Amino acid sequence: MDLYEFQAKQLFAKHGVKTQVGEVVTTPATAQAAAEKFGGLVVVKAQVKVGGRGKAGGVKLAKTPQEAAERASDILKLNIKGHQVRQVLVTPAEDIAKEFYVSFLLDRSNRTFLAMASVEGGVEIEEVAATNPDALAKIPISASTGVTKEVAFKIAQAAKFPSEIQNQVVEMLQAMWKVFVAEDATLVEVNPLVLTPSGQVVALDGKVSLDDNAAFRQADHAALVDKSIEDPLEAAAKEKDLNYVKLTGEVGIIGNGAGLVMSTLDVVAYAGEEFGGMKPANFLDIGGGASAEVMANGLNIILSDPAVRSVFVNVFGGITACDAVANGIVQAVDLLTKQGKSISVPLVVRLDGNNAEAGRKILSDAAISGIHMAKTMDEGARLVAQLAAGK
Ligand SMILES: Nc1ncnc2c1ncn2[C@@H]1O[C@H](COP(=O)(O)OP(=O)(O)OP(=O)(O)O)[C@@H](O)[C@H]1O
Ligand SMILES: [Mg+2]
Repeated sequence: MDLYEFQAKQLFAKHGVKTQVGEVVTTPATAQAAAEKFGGLVVVKAQVKVGGRGKAGGVKLAKTPQEAAERASDILKLNIKGHQVRQVLVTPAEDIAKEFYVSFLLDRSNRTFLAMASVEGGVEIEEVAATNPDALAKIPISASTGVTKEVAFKIAQAAKFPSEIQNQVVEMLQAMWKVFVAEDATLVEVNPLVLTPSGQVVALDGKVSLDDNAAFRQADHAALVDKSIEDPLEAAAKEKDLNYVKLTGEVGIIGNGAGLVMSTLDVVAYAGEEFGGMKPANFLDIGGGASAEVMANGLNIILSDPAVRSVFVNVFGGITACDAVANGIVQAVDLLTKQGKSISVPLVVRLDGNNAEAGRKILSDAAISGIHMAKTMDEGARLVAQLAAGK
């Protein structure tokens, strides 16, 4: 889960990363009140979970509370890269002598953690990495050692931070690492980290991504979820422990195994081109043990998506044999019918692998209207795309 800047800064404050959180507001009037509290000179910042806010006009200086209200009013109308601004952060303006970049992240490809730092901060770090790679120091961080004082110095030196602020940068890096570990983050980034004319090092921006796999031991993180932007179908799926991701197309997809579902998305999107660009409506992996209940929950979520015009159930029988899955589908349809939910769109089912013949027989014996059988994944994909297109 990605956090908003103000949430990231709240975690910073909790673990001793020097920053000014400010106040998050949703109206010009409350922005004005917040600016008054901070003595007038403030920066008003769009709170959206996307980068490049400044360039999009989402970060503005205000010299008076009245101006803060006006800037808030402008920014609250913005839509930045598809993200509607609903709240702004009003934060004291800092004088800036220099802007730097520092981050810790999970480096999946190298199976380690990584520190990145640069004295060329403030701009997009991807740009620095592309045009001036030497200016971006990258130091792997061992999980067992973490960021000791020595490691932090090594990062500060590799990035060539001025010697007179190295102690402050080291403190900052160690506090950021505390956030990373204590909060189970996969990214803790500060861009810009600034040096003020009076010689203070402060985090002016914050980006934190939390590891959802650690949610079980981070009870406080549930409060950081923004329910207003969470997709209602994804929220419902999460409640049922389903591995579901909402996509933009018309063809509902259910499969067992993440790899199979991923390739089903590709095959359906490809087949859909022939029928006016039909695309997958979701990713849903019901996993190995596809019980009737899990199948019913999955179908229920997919069928409550108004965009769905047909559904492809693509199952490869392994440990769970196809006859068990077929029974699951029959019982799921039964369950849904009993709950008064009709199967309102055609279902294409492809069963292959362990006990496929028996599975197909169960489905054809059940003679459920609207269920079509497909022999192969390609055939199923073509048929389901065709049905979605109403052809
Ligand atoms: N409190 C502040 N006081 C003074 N200047 C600020 C303050 N906050 C931000 N700025 C200035 O605005 C610039 C952009 O701010 P920030 O880094 O928060 O947004 P961004 O980089 O555009 O957004 P993102 O990080 O989402 O890409 C900073 O580089 C800094 O120069
Ligand atoms: Mg930034």
